[in-house]
Amino acid sequence: MNTKQQVDLLGLTFERLYTKEELCESVQRIAKQITADFGNKPNPLALCILNGAFVFAADLLRALPFDLSVEFVRYRSYHGTKATQAPEELLGLTQRVEQRDILIIEDIVDSGLTMQALLNNLNGRGARSIQIATMFTKSEAFIGNFKIDYVGLDLPNRFVVGYGLDYNGLGRNYSDLYVLNEK
Ligand code: IMP
Ligand code: MG
Repeated sequence: MNTKQQVDLLGLTFERLYTKEELCESVQRIAKQITADFGNKPNPLALCILNGAFVFAADLLRALPFDLSVEFVRYRSYHGTKATQAPEELLGLTQRVEQRDILIIEDIVDSGLTMQALLNNLNGRGARSIQIATMFTKSEAFIGNFKIDYVGLDLPNRFVVGYGLDYNGLGRNYSDLYVLNEK
């Protein structure tokens, strides 16, 4: 629960970029789009990418009025405020993917390397369709070679915390989104 204009975290100052109400509006908009596309698909599977996507996934999934399974996959790609080159897979898929419509739920697609690693991993497993929902993108930093189907908000190419996103493990529980003050 954080509704401050500014937060200090491990010696860095972050300014509020979006309030929880603004974030909520984006989630509801995406939920409507996903419902229109997925509402009649049999047995869809949502893949939530841990850790960061847990907040977005919790809000998004509860705004979906149709039945679907949920599975958690874990990758680690950030150390501090800089991305590492190759995302590491820490927790793999256990559910059947063949002939299923997959909805990947991600907090933020930055360079796109994490998502690319997951897509490579899913490739050849026989999914019927794969759609990507991300709460945030940083389109200036994107170097991936895939299409994102549902986007909450496009952000400036700056480090953010809150709404599931962390700085060295902290800040995930902030309900607003904060951007690093680089002045
Ligand atoms: P990518 O592989 O560069 O697309 O990075 C994606 C992952 O890095 C996301 O799933 C986040 O967990 C993390 N990440 C990217 N940008 C930020 C940020 O601004 N703050 C915190 N984590 C971030
Ligand atoms: Mg993530």
